[in-house]
Amino acid sequence: MPCPPKSDDLVFFVNGRKVIERNVDPEVTLLSFLRKNLRLTGTKYACGRGGCGACTVMVSKRDPLSAKIRHFSITACLVPICSLYGAAVTTVEGVGSINTRLHPVQERIAKSHGTQCGFCTPGMVMSMYTLLRNHPQPSEEQLLEALGGNLCRCTGYRPILASGRTFCVESNGCQQKGTGKCCLDPGGNDSSSLLRESDICTELFAEDEFQPLDPTQELIFPPELLRMAEKPEKQTLIFRGERVTWISPGTLKDLLELKAKHPEAPLISGNTSLGPAMKSQGHFYPILLSPARISELSMVSKTSDGLTIGAGCSLAQVKDILAERVSELPEEKTQTYRALLKHLRSLAGQQIRNMASLGGHIISRHCYSDLNPILAVGNATLNLISEEGTRQIPLNEHFLAGLASVDLKPEEILESVYIPHSQKWEFVSAFRQAQCQQNALADVNAGMRVVLKEGTDTIKDLSIAYGGVGAATVSAQKSCQQLVGRPWNELMLEEACRLLLEEVSLPGWAPGGKVEFKRTLVVSFFFKFYLEVLQELKKLVKFMPDSHHYPEISDQFLSALEDFPITGSQGVQRYQRVDSHQSLQDPVGRPIMHLSGLKHATGEAIFCDDIPMVDRELFMVLVTSTRAHAKIISVDLSQALDLPGVIDVITAEDIPGTNGTEDDKLMAVDEVLCVGHIICAVVAETELQAKSATEKIKITYEDLEPVIITINDAIKHNSFLCPEKKLEQGNVEEAFEKVDQIVEGEVHVGGQEHFYMETQRVLVIPKAEDKELDIYVSTQDPAHVQKTVSSTLNIPINRITCHVKRVGGGFGGKVGRPAVFGAIAAVGAIKTGHPIRLVLDRKDDMLITGGRHPLFGKYKVGFMNNGRIKALDIECFVNGGCMLDDSELVTEFLILKLENAYKIRNLRFRGRACMTNLPSNTAFRGFGFPQGTLITESCITAVAAKCGLLPEKIREKNMYKTVDKTIYKQAFSPETLIRCWNECLDKSSFHSRRMQVEEFNKKNYWKKKGMAIIPMKFSVGFAATSYHQAAALVHIYTDGSVLVTHGGNELGQGIHTKMLQVASRELNIPMSSLHICETSTATVPNTIATAASIGSDVNGRAVQNACQILLKRLEPIIKKNPEGTWEDWIEAAFEQRISLSATGYFRGYKAFMDWEKGEGDPFPYYVYGAACSEVEVDCLTGAHKKIRTDIVMDACCSLNPAIDIGQVEGSFIQGMGLYTTEELKYSPEGVLYSRGPDEYKIPTIADVPEEFNVSLLPSSQTPPTIYSSKGLGESGMFLGSSVFFAITDAVAAARRERDTVEDFTVRSPATPEWVRMACADRFTEMTPTAKG
Ligand SMILES: Cc1cc2nc3c(=O)[nH]c(=O)nc-3n(C[C@H](O)[C@H](O)[C@H](O)COP(=O)(O)OP(=O)(O)OC[C@H]3O[C@@H](n4cnc5c(N)ncnc54)[C@H](O)[C@@H]3O)c2cc1C
Ligand code: FES
Ligand code: FES
Repeated sequence: MPCPPKSDDLVFFVNGRKVIERNVDPEVTLLSFLRKNLRLTGTKYACGRGGCGACTVMVSKRDPLSAKIRHFSITACLVPICSLYGAAVTTVEGVGSINTRLHPVQERIAKSHGTQCGFCTPGMVMSMYTLLRNHPQPSEEQLLEALGGNLCRCTGYRPILASGRTFCVESNGCQQKGTGKCCLDPGGNDSSSLLRESDICTELFAEDEFQPLDPTQELIFPPELLRMAEKPEKQTLIFRGERVTWISPGTLKDLLELKAKHPEAPLISGNTSLGPAMKSQGHFYPILLSPARISELSMVSKTSDGLTIGAGCSLAQVKDILAERVSELPEEKTQTYRALLKHLRSLAGQQIRNMASLGGHIISRHCYSDLNPILAVGNATLNLISEEGTRQIPLNEHFLAGLASVDLKPEEILESVYIPHSQKWEFVSAFRQAQCQQNALADVNAGMRVVLKEGTDTIKDLSIAYGGVGAATVSAQKSCQQLVGRPWNELMLEEACRLLLEEVSLPGWAPGGKVEFKRTLVVSFFFKFYLEVLQELKKLVKFMPDSHHYPEISDQFLSALEDFPITGSQGVQRYQRVDSHQSLQDPVGRPIMHLSGLKHATGEAIFCDDIPMVDRELFMVLVTSTRAHAKIISVDLSQALDLPGVIDVITAEDIPGTNGTEDDKLMAVDEVLCVGHIICAVVAETELQAKSATEKIKITYEDLEPVIITINDAIKHNSFLCPEKKLEQGNVEEAFEKVDQIVEGEVHVGGQEHFYMETQRVLVIPKAEDKELDIYVSTQDPAHVQKTVSSTLNIPINRITCHVKRVGGGFGGKVGRPAVFGAIAAVGAIKTGHPIRLVLDRKDDMLITGGRHPLFGKYKVGFMNNGRIKALDIECFVNGGCMLDDSELVTEFLILKLENAYKIRNLRFRGRACMTNLPSNTAFRGFGFPQGTLITESCITAVAAKCGLLPEKIREKNMYKTVDKTIYKQAFSPETLIRCWNECLDKSSFHSRRMQVEEFNKKNYWKKKGMAIIPMKFSVGFAATSYHQAAALVHIYTDGSVLVTHGGNELGQGIHTKMLQVASRELNIPMSSLHICETSTATVPNTIATAASIGSDVNGRAVQNACQILLKRLEPIIKKNPEGTWEDWIEAAFEQRISLSATGYFRGYKAFMDWEKGEGDPFPYYVYGAACSEVEVDCLTGAHKKIRTDIVMDACCSLNPAIDIGQVEGSFIQGMGLYTTEELKYSPEGVLYSRGPDEYKIPTIADVPEEFNVSLLPSSQTPPTIYSSKGLGESGMFLGSSVFFAITDAVAAARRERDTVEDFTVRSPATPEWVRMACADRFTEMTPTAKG
């Protein structure tokens, strides 16, 4: 048998250690290599597509041209390991550790409270660390740029930015810096009562305690790699894997030879385009050619007429090169360069810009490419090279359309790109509109260039190219030709718009849909260009007396020219200082850092999938339905079972016990109810094998009718999951007859994906004895997992132990579903006798698990002309998906909470959960409240519009004012609600700013500002007594150390930190003597899900109880030896045979609801709050900027203000995402399109309000809770709607000005698409189907 050709050794360094990989597999990514081979699990998997930054590491290489070491951040999930030959990789473990030395970046992010669940933290640390390696004192702009590619779902980014800002040049320690004011200046920026009170604190961390950054302490670039780079070997390196061979030639000549020999082989540069295509679109290439070692591809040459940039330069390098050229040349020559720079700032995140090459970008020809439209209009030329020689082709519309005659030949490669200078009288601009400002693919982008005849307004040459409007970048060549010779004036503008809309026809199937919006952008962008050119001309003619006269831009139109800059958030966080008499050791009420903060920052915090591989472990991948509603005719497993490494396929037939419930089966049997319905699960030796096998399973279906996708479909088919829930008070019909006016309207609220950074994962380990199982699972409810596994396997609960160390974000999404995954994995473990690991990849997680219920609501509101609401009738429907799950409860909560903060005498609320053929929707932070209350607040806005009053006046008029009863007859006092409202009005200087907003709006036609202040009454807890019980187990060991266990799960909300604060106070010992290891069903049984904002409260009461029991037992010993130490007492107690272990128990708050009578006491207490937001909207693009948000939240006596402020900020930003950018997209057949961070946009660091102030209202009540604290986990979510209502306020201002009088339907999220189309104007009117 012939020997397989030998593979070269792959040599690189990781954290200063040399790695030599023999027989490396080119299909392995750096992420997988780090986590699996090197056991460096600090680098996390969260999306696998380069879109979230959780896997960020730093790569260092010697640049052959500058001979300098380049450090740059990359996303390890997209980096093929073979590309690292000769590179040094630094992971979070190499930056610092708790056991050796913490790096200042790690220390500061933790101590600034920049970690909650901690799953994003290593990525954040690495982005910041890389920045500091290049710029030890970065600017704020550089910091934002560095973090733009890192997502965090918990914190709301503010504290992360605060930690990074401590390194910035202008850092002065004041968290309000940049505003020109200091929060600590006496009589400084804020005259309100809170700040003057001496018991108010504005510091959450002490910056002066941070260790300084010392660049000399960093790992050096390995000398061996330096030697290798200085004298590069020229021979070709070949790495052969099972399926793929990676060839990395050392010279250009060899590369061209190889390309001629393997013309079909792609050049793998940054792999940011090839990688995702290979992963998700099944593209496969047996040979990959790497140009990484070819220095000719990184050459840059400057000439008098232009710039030539090597195709191998990364986009980050291109940005630097262009910036340098712009600083060197006169403005007129750099029009194209500046247009490119504008887009290079927002194109993807920093990591992708570091990896992606210019050549790869151009050759990929993505329809959304940000650079190709500009390069095309800028007359760029592509320099091609092959063994045959060199040639040039223009980067024009034909090339971008992929016309074979003007394309690269298979044996050619792109060597460099020539971009000419612009000339005087030539103007180039770039435009782009995306769902968010940063790290989002553009919906539409454009490059536009005009050359005017010198000194005139006559068009000599015009080129326009658009992205996002077709399958490739589209050039509006015909329109441009027809406009040549026309003067640059209004008539030309009109004609241009007509021509452009005709030529850029945008078929109905245009990528991403949004056809009307895109058509509107096509002309809106041109209008912006028109204005920009006029503005430039104005500057030019200033220096040219007697020159041509150009049309004037009206002052009102000038603001259309300004783009919203990406700015970092500033603000102040205020909270009540602890009583001056409180012992220094007592941590309650102090801003204690998250217990795991430092471990999050060093990557030492262990999440479920970080548990090392156990002996004989197998991997499980789920197989799901591709049909929304169908009969399963057959499932053929044979081909899958034949594949190497495949051990078994688990189906419902393998379940020894029960397959879930009749309505909610774990695995489908005869019928599937949604796309994503689990049918079976492959078990294989590796993840790759299991994934490949899923593709070989043949399932035949027979489609069933009806397929119900939307709420409207469900109403039509009378398809509901549960009976209607109804509450009524007063006499609604009678009241409607007596009111001055009635308004009716509709509200649509879209669903929301949890997007916890850690996807669902579980590891099931069967034990040899007595059918015992250990289950490590990422869940909010381990007892539910335990119970479900028990019934599925038909073994008693006492054989199953569930362990939860920490969860990388839950938000409700890990209450119910983890039990399904745990049970299926357990069936696999029992059947095969092997441990089973199941880690959902992001797209499966998004497909299978469901999220927040979308809502459709109809309201009828009757009111007097003074704004007093007399009657309100709301009927709403939520989309529950195909199974009941929590949908009935969500509907109940929604109805119970719908009145929000308002006392309306005559009310009728009705709600139903629709059954549709979508994955089952489930619990999500706020549990119906954020959707439902949007209807109520929309009614208020509608009433205000009809009465000609401001919405805040209507809110104030109708708010609860005195002790009263809710619609379900629960008594409460609104005093704190009113305090929050007034404090918020005051803190935000609402009334004066409202006037400024109006002034602004009068002066600006294309930009409008909006403001809104929203009150909130949020009920905490479950509406059932049994759900409020909790237990804890506290052991004191003989050395005095204490182990605390309780029934709550650490989801990032800091529950373990709070529990130790409670135990520390109760036992009067420092927190350092206390420890929490995990939540386990073996130590605390029969726990309730950690949810409903009540976890810390009820578990805190249980911990308190256990500590008090122990203290009572110790009392005689302490009395006998009052001067003794804690250790002395414990020793004595042990000697005297006193039990040092106690179970604490809290029986729970009484809570009940009688739906028959419509009465009850369903909630233990309320959290009140108010938020005021101001935004500015770009009416031409639909973009918005969040100018400022002020939140006042009633935390009463916060257990830990840093954690509580973190919860308020994090939930607010998550709410803001719900109401502005997060949009789930389904096909008409029920297939979810948005299955990753590229299609589903959660807020990024650039989305946080520019000024973001949070105040915890000083306590004035004593709720029946642990130390009078309040649970703040969910309530902030709804306050995000203040941004939504500020946006609609701005849109309403635009519509008033344009005399678009008819009402507009409230639709959340208020995406740029919605905003643009609602700001109806001459351009929306040009698009024939556009409606206002
Ligand atoms: C998370 C994420 C976000 C993104 N956001 C944006 C965005 O906002 N805006 C935007 O415009 N783009 C965006 N992109 C796309 C990105 O710009 C492209 O993927 C990238 O520029 C491709 O470059 P690459 O070096 O990674 O190409 P690769 O993936 O390595 O290669 C792509 C193709 O180019 C060919 N190729 C590469 N170099 C050469 C050469 N020298 N000669 C001939 N052929 C060559 C390869 O054969 C291959 O076919 C994003 C990508 C990701 C992953
Ligand atoms: S896991 Fe790599 S970017 Fe998300
Ligand atoms: S702390 Fe950032 S994702 Fe949880």
